Amino acid sequence: MTTALITGATAGIGAAFARRLAADGHDLVLVARDTKRLSEQATELHDRHGIEAEVLTADLSTEDGIAAVEARLSQPRQPVDLLVNNAGFGNKGRYLEVSMADELTMIKVHIEAVLRLTSAATASMRERGRGGVVNVASVAAFVPRGTYGASKAWVVQFTQGAARDLAGSGVRLMALCPGFVRTEFHQRAGMGTDNIPGWLWLDADKLVAAALTDLARGKSLSIPDPRYKALMGAVKLAPRGLLGGITSKTGRKYGPK
Ligand SMILES: NC(=O)c1ccc[n+]([C@@H]2O[C@H](COP(=O)([O-])OP(=O)(O)OC[C@H]3O[C@@H](n4cnc5c(N)ncnc54)[C@H](OP(=O)(O)O)[C@@H]3O)[C@@H](O)[C@H]2O)c1
Repeated sequence: MTTALITGATAGIGAAFARRLAADGHDLVLVARDTKRLSEQATELHDRHGIEAEVLTADLSTEDGIAAVEARLSQPRQPVDLLVNNAGFGNKGRYLEVSMADELTMIKVHIEAVLRLTSAATASMRERGRGGVVNVASVAAFVPRGTYGASKAWVVQFTQGAARDLAGSGVRLMALCPGFVRTEFHQRAGMGTDNIPGWLWLDADKLVAAALTDLARGKSLSIPDPRYKALMGAVKLAPRGLLGGITSKTGRKYGPK
């Protein structure tokens, strides 16, 4: 039996990872801020799949929250075989419309927490000679899109660099770059989604299945859908100015408060 630790497991993509990994027989450590929601999910996954699901309440925008998860990842008696750094959020507004406090919180959750948790996990995985890390980035990593896109670009570069450095150690790292996925993400950020065409939306369960296939194949970067693979191919060729004009608007229209 192997154990997977998933951050941001209460909703959306993280919850989809939890469902899929539990169905595959992995024990779980579920991390997020909402203890009640985590406990209900742990009970349901235990009852349905017979796996052990541990709840670890942690706010990854705080020192205590990051340190608690680092400590769990470093426990030699209950090793974690797969880490999914998935917790994340969007900020409503463009550059200078978002408060500095919110920008810094994003950097803490999307960058500092990912760096520290990946490092805690891979240090112990390397000693055991096996393990995997999935860092959830976004296709926003490849386009100009404020602190969100910049933080996800960091996730991609960091993960692919670390994957290369740890090649041959038995530890795999992969950056996962979804396009638009139907989750709580946009609603939580107060972003309207009316201007996002229907064909661009992905299903979280299908996304996770494709991501785990890519991880098993040893990829260090996963863009798990033909539509987005084609779009990202076009992005590489598009002029930067044109790209910025389109991407700074798409999916950032404000919904009702
Ligand atoms: N949905 C998309 O279109 C999309 C596209 C590309 C990439 N992504 C990325 O996918 C990841 C998951 O997003 P999602 O779409 O599944 O969003 P979601 O449905 O809003 O879920 C976000 C999860 O992150 C947790 N979380 C947020 N802030 C946290 C914090 N400070 N500490 C601990 N946990 C925290 C939330 O749990 P609690 O509130 O219980 O703490 C929740 O479980 C994010 O990294 C996001 O950037 C999403």
